[in-house]
Amino acid sequence: MKLKSHRAPLYEALLAYRDSRQRSFHVPGHKNGQVYRALLQKEENAYADGQAAKHNESHLGKEPLEQSQLHIVEGEQLAAGERQESLQDNTLREEKDQEEQSQPNIVPTRAFLEMMRLDVTEISGTDDLHHPEGVIMEAQQLAADCYGAEESFFLVGGSTAGNLSLLLTVCDEPGSIVLVQRNVHKSVIHGLMLAGAKAVFLEPWVDPTSGLAVMPSVKTVQAAVQAYPEAKGLLVTLPNYYGMGADLTPIARICHEAGMPLLVDEAHGAHYGQHPELPASALSCGADGVVQSTHKMLSAFTMGAMLHVQGTRINRSLLRQRLAMVQSSSPSYPVMASLDLARRLLHVQGAQTFTAGLAAVSIFKRGLAELPRFRLLQPAALLQQELSAEVEPADQTAHASAAQPEQMHGQSAAELGHAAAGYTAQDPFKAVIYDGLGILSGYGLQQQLEARGCIPEMSDEQYVVLLFSLGSTEEDAQHVLLALQDISSAFAVEGDLLSPEESGEHMRGEKHYISTWNNFQEKATYYSEPIPFSLQPIREEHTIVIPINECAGRRSAEMVIPYPPGIPLVYPGEHISPTILARIQLLRDEGAKFHGVTDASLQTMKVMKNE
Ligand SMILES: Cc1ncc(COP(=O)(O)O)c(C=O)c1O
Repeated sequence: MKLKSHRAPLYEALLAYRDSRQRSFHVPGHKNGQVYRALLQKEENAYADGQAAKHNESHLGKEPLEQSQLHIVEGEQLAAGERQESLQDNTLREEKDQEEQSQPNIVPTRAFLEMMRLDVTEISGTDDLHHPEGVIMEAQQLAADCYGAEESFFLVGGSTAGNLSLLLTVCDEPGSIVLVQRNVHKSVIHGLMLAGAKAVFLEPWVDPTSGLAVMPSVKTVQAAVQAYPEAKGLLVTLPNYYGMGADLTPIARICHEAGMPLLVDEAHGAHYGQHPELPASALSCGADGVVQSTHKMLSAFTMGAMLHVQGTRINRSLLRQRLAMVQSSSPSYPVMASLDLARRLLHVQGAQTFTAGLAAVSIFKRGLAELPRFRLLQPAALLQQELSAEVEPADQTAHASAAQPEQMHGQSAAELGHAAAGYTAQDPFKAVIYDGLGILSGYGLQQQLEARGCIPEMSDEQYVVLLFSLGSTEEDAQHVLLALQDISSAFAVEGDLLSPEESGEHMRGEKHYISTWNNFQEKATYYSEPIPFSLQPIREEHTIVIPINECAGRRSAEMVIPYPPGIPLVYPGEHISPTILARIQLLRDEGAKFHGVTDASLQTMKVMKNE
């Protein structure tokens, strides 16, 4: 069958259903919005009657007196003090009257009612997500074609549903060992719990310049795969929330040589590979199963996501069964149709889909370059390239020394060389900015931006992530630039930009030292022991709180998450090695904050009682 990329079969089926005006004797109970349309009709009739009555009265010369006029007439007969009290009484009375008289508005807007016409269920012609044979099958085939998969599955529960079902597929028996990047979304942890799997956690690679964690390095993957050849697969997250990443191809190769599938949580990269300026997609790098939140960086409704698979390493019939387990048997058709439409937009327009969005990004970046106060996170190589491109040829020698890595965020050449290995790609749509003066934290900058009508995607202690997309406009870029300009003036510092010491740039280094894993990778193992996950909660009576310096060798009963970067150092059930313990204590003493622990001061920890 020839695929017709300009068609949106599922969306079209919904329109056809709406236009057929068939009578519904099936769910949903709102009957395509009929329940509200009947009320709306009643309201409109009442309004029309009221208007007609008003018209008649005015024609008879009896203009009805407004409630407020009545109060003024009464008030005029009272002394000034009494009038005040009377006005208050009247206001209260008015409010009470209004409460009793006015009907709360219980009818949704017409736009919402129009949407309800498309909210159908599995009936003749609309297919079945869990046994697709008609329009859903066609829509999914078109999606596979568009994203370069062998088979694509629509998800109505976000990437969450994709991660759960992938893990439940590869971990096909209790106690299955699976290699997992340590810093993952909670849906991955929940998948491990549901599957009763044992996770070998791989340390993420940490960019020394920013202190932000990306996926594990090739070296780490190699070591873990060699140590656990029986593992059922490797799961990594790429890109991270900040849009940072690196080439997945060597990691896919290592997995495949060991006969393992590579699963990629590409929740933030549904647009990858679709434009020359965007990083390569996980599928094109060889991943076997890829989860994408189409609602995050493309144009689907919230909860709309896709799972793409290729090759034979993932058992597809088991995957279908797992998808049916974790997804509703009444999936939302508007969400699925929005996936069909998001795919069609991309399929028909190709790379051009991103032209306007990328233009907005480029306006923003050019404008930001004129506001040296605010800086942009970029891979070191790209930063160097841009710095070199900025100077006149005659100045190049001088500039080359000016752009010495040592002077970029106080990082050594060796560190930046290392940086090039794990952070080589940045999603251009994620503009990660920070205050170069170190005055505003990421949270503070977010607050200031919000006060000026710009709502960022997220912030941490240092950075703010501004998420652009194919839907962003030049006006968006201009607006945020104006906001930043205004913030810059409102939080100005006398004189020029401060020296690194004054500006807190050196603090960035220090903060990163405590919040990242810079020395950690050299000293410690790259991967954990297998940590068992299950649905059984840890029972309080099996735990004990002890002084932290007695914790080495014990199994933790809580998660220890230094923040930032928010990577769990220890999962419940994991042995606390002396190295990890030293790391926790160091971070604590340096002032890091911790999530997940019972005692935030980390003088004590909750551990499992000795068996
Ligand atoms: C890395 C990552 N994976 C998975 C998810 C879950 O995606 P969804 O919200 O589409 O279920 C998120 C959500 O933010 C995420 O950041």
